[in-house]
Amino acid sequence: RKVLVVNGPNLNLLGKREPEIYGHTTLADIEKTLGTQARARDVGLIFVQSNHEGELVEHIQHYGLLADSAEQVDAIIINPAAFTHTSVALRDALAATKKPFIEVHLSNVHSREPFRAHSYFSDIATAVICGCGHLGYEMALNYWLTHLYTD
Ligand code: DQA
Repeated sequence: RKVLVVNGPNLNLLGKREPEIYGHTTLADIEKTLGTQARARDVGLIFVQSNHEGELVEHIQHYGLLADSAEQVDAIIINPAAFTHTSVALRDALAATKKPFIEVHLSNVHSREPFRAHSYFSDIATAVICGCGHLGYEMALNYWLTHLYTD
């Protein structure tokens, strides 16, 4: 019973970074809230953030496919950040794991610059949540807690 939460580049700056777009909540705040939510259902949460594409690929490969089955996750929540709009490598890593994932964006990517409207992930995602700020992560976790685990 494990869920992997992946955050891409510049999300380590949450709270400081363009707060009018991304809000005042920090990544540590999000991790804490999700941790409490998961623990209440006896689910383990693995939280990773990197500014490096290859490092994100390796985390996804590891927790999604290569680790022993006890260490592997059942599902993924990912905010690929700027890699949303550029990364075939991250898409391929997710596809390789065959683990279902939810794509989350804090901002509404459809109401911003046109280049943000295209995602390399959405067509293979179970769901896409955008524009709900940090609540999007909680909604995504709630979805997995509801749909993966019955007790
Ligand atoms: C983002 C939206 C992306 O376009 C942007 O590059 C990000 C954050 C979001 O959460 O709203 O870094 O994924």
